[in-house]
Amino acid sequence: MAAISFDPPLRRARPGALPWVARLQLGAALLWMLAGLALGLAMAASGDFALRSVHSHVQLLGWVTLCLTGLTYAVLPDAAVSMLARWHVALHNIGLPVMVTALAAHHSGLPAAEPFIALGSILAFGGLVAFALAVRRVL
Ligand code: HEM
Ligand code: HEM
Repeated sequence: MAAISFDPPLRRARPGALPWVARLQLGAALLWMLAGLALGLAMAASGDFALRSVHSHVQLLGWVTLCLTGLTYAVLPDAAVSMLARWHVALHNIGLPVMVTALAAHHSGLPAAEPFIALGSILAFGGLVAFALAVRRVL
């Protein structure tokens, strides 16, 4: 008897091609790395660490996590062609700038930015849940 599955059929990637979601995640990761390093240098030079958590999340949720997900899509291209991967890329790349911009505004004395920190965080979190599901399907 055939096994019952609730997942839609698995799409297969074109052999040898770097999936566009891998390219997009790696490109975005490089931009966040440069932005995070510039902010780190500015903090070190000024001695003002008010934006420490902006710097750490630009580096860790931007550079490190985007880069790791991009490399994962490069290694597991079948995960990259799924609808879940598209949701991940969209939510991560929208949520992160909303989250870190609001975080910077909040730490610069704009308490009204707080709901946008929550919004950006939830979008980025949702994106990473989609990433986890996309990868789980091909393991
Ligand atoms: C040019 C390179 C960098 C400079 C000048 C720099 C500078 C800084 C400064 C000034 C702080 C605040 C320290 C404090 O509050 O005591 C900091 C914190 C932090 N940085 Fe960087 N940073 C650099 C690169 C990186 C990279 C590449 C990463 C990660 C991939 C990173 C992750 C973090 C984290 C997680 C914190 C928070 C640490 C904590 O809360 O204890 N930084 N950085
Ligand atoms: C949706 C994603 C995330 C949310 C909402 C989130 C939220 C937070 C919050 C609220 C703090 C405390 C900040 C403060 O004390 O000012 C924090 C700190 C920290 N987070 Fe995250 N985080 C996320 C993702 C990550 C990821 C992916 C990493 C690492 C790969 C990470 C590493 C850290 C580190 C090292 C700290 C301590 C340094 C600091 O205070 O800035 N976070 N995070």
